[in-house]
Amino acid sequence: MTSLTHILSDIVGEAFTHAGLPKELVQVRVSDRPDLAQFQCNGAMAAAKQAKKNPREIAKKVCSALTELMPGTFIEDLDVDRIEYVLNEEKGSFSYITSDPNALFSEVTIAGPGFINLNITDAYLADYLEKRENYGVTPISPSEKVVLDYGGPNIAKAMHVGHLRAAIIGDSLRRIMSYAGYDVLGDVHMGDWGTHLGMLIADYLREGEESLVLDTDVEDEASVAKLMEDMGARYPKASGAAKENEDLKKEAQETTVKLQNKEQPYYGIWEKIRAVSVAGMKKTYGKLGVEFDLWKGEADVHDYIAPMVEDMREKGWAVESDGAWVVPVASNEDNKKIPPMILYKRDGAVMYGTTDCATIVERVKLYDPVKMVYVVDQRQSLHFEQVFRAVRKADIVNDNVELTHAGFGTMNGKDGKPFKTREGGVMRLEDLIKMATEKAEARLDEANLASDMDEEERGDVAHKVAIAAIKFADLQNQRQADYVFDLDRLTSFEGKTGPYLLYQAVRIKSLLNKAKDAGEKIDGDLALGEGDRDLALLLTQFPDSLQLSINGYAPHHLCEYLHKLAQGFSSFYGNCHILSENDESLKQSRLQLCQVTMNQLEKGLELLGILVPARM
Ligand code: ARG
Repeated sequence: MTSLTHILSDIVGEAFTHAGLPKELVQVRVSDRPDLAQFQCNGAMAAAKQAKKNPREIAKKVCSALTELMPGTFIEDLDVDRIEYVLNEEKGSFSYITSDPNALFSEVTIAGPGFINLNITDAYLADYLEKRENYGVTPISPSEKVVLDYGGPNIAKAMHVGHLRAAIIGDSLRRIMSYAGYDVLGDVHMGDWGTHLGMLIADYLREGEESLVLDTDVEDEASVAKLMEDMGARYPKASGAAKENEDLKKEAQETTVKLQNKEQPYYGIWEKIRAVSVAGMKKTYGKLGVEFDLWKGEADVHDYIAPMVEDMREKGWAVESDGAWVVPVASNEDNKKIPPMILYKRDGAVMYGTTDCATIVERVKLYDPVKMVYVVDQRQSLHFEQVFRAVRKADIVNDNVELTHAGFGTMNGKDGKPFKTREGGVMRLEDLIKMATEKAEARLDEANLASDMDEEERGDVAHKVAIAAIKFADLQNQRQADYVFDLDRLTSFEGKTGPYLLYQAVRIKSLLNKAKDAGEKIDGDLALGEGDRDLALLLTQFPDSLQLSINGYAPHHLCEYLHKLAQGFSSFYGNCHILSENDESLKQSRLQLCQVTMNQLEKGLELLGILVPARM
């Protein structure tokens, strides 16, 4: 990313080198104290520590180097005589201030123990915004391949809100990383090979009702819904019965093994169950606007399992334990107990860890990614620790391949407990979306929005508001934190919500349309003044928010930025004349700022998986 802070870091880095200091210590960032300066660099403190010198002396050296370097390095035609150096030891500040419009910095100050505070000139700021393609987001090159695993629904079961967070966070990361130039493969990685399927298939066969499965028409929505309904009710019943009855339990286990050996009729029934489930899932994910590149599941890697385990046995990584085959993954440095990862149970069935390891074998073979990232519930952290250790131990992945479990917290109800239906049951994802859409419609009514639309357009706007509400409420939190799903709050058009951002974006859109209707071309130069500066500075921070989101697999940084931008625009709009501005060049400049704000809001929301309606 060549964000403004990167450019400034390079420049200050050069001053460090000039002053004989290590430039790696330089990281210019947006100031924590906007009342004091726009940007800050704390590198002088680190450099002083290394050199065992006074940090203020070091900072002074950097500032001198900066001003010395300036004419030749980054300011064309700088009028050196117009630079005013102010050295005020008493006040503890050293700064230079210039009124030269061609300068890059308008003010450089040393503050406190050795912070270097930086302000840039309006001219440089305008120039930066005008020249930056893609808002300063430069795609990484060469493109690196990444596999993102953010699905995980189990087939034959209705998708529930537990799958919501994985989908929302993962889909957003896929969009953000793709925009930054990564070659991202999103995999749904369905749970389609576990004991729950053995149990279900055994139940159909015992009841002689397998035709319910086999006669289902995958192309027909009603037929798909009917079987999904049947399986959804059947599984808990069968599972409950198996808990009470040893014979049923044994039957389910045996059926699972036969299924995993691809024996008929088990495998045939399973194939149909899977096809029907995929059709149902695609519909639900479609409603959420969540996409995947790969529709694979645990079963797809079945054929990798035997050779993988064989290899692990040969090399001594896998050992027999009580009839089962396991990989011991504990290490002396552990401060908690890490149990061995089970490859084969005593009855020969494979486990969750087995399929995850084999999936890594497949991903390396087919895609050779530099990163594999799992957006999965935080509570599975032990599982991923075991899997990652096992594949590293068995040399299935290279040391330089990153394996990350990007875990997330729980979505709770207002009672602080995991979100449930009013009756205390598991809330289905479909029902949640429906509930949010109804609420969004009521909100539109209240705010007297979308009132002149026909039913179809209004329905589309309500759906977009609902999805914006659900996704933004989720993504704005730190990934690991639990959060409370409060439908009233998150659908509001006020506050830190998705609907608020949509509303602001639509407002700017309509302002720009009005300008275009009045014959404005919106293509003038930027001429920034006092009232425009804050918004213009904010607009430079978009790439930084993306970089932070990528670094931590944490889209809340982008949410934070977009919310600040919407608020920043609001104050700009309140304080400045735009269409009513008499000064023509100022009017053009402000329309440009509106346009860039609008583009960034729309692009940023799209990267969160949120679509802005044309009007509202
Ligand atoms: N199917 C699993 C579950 O419902 C989630 C799968 C997550 N992805 C993975 N590669 N393990 O808990």
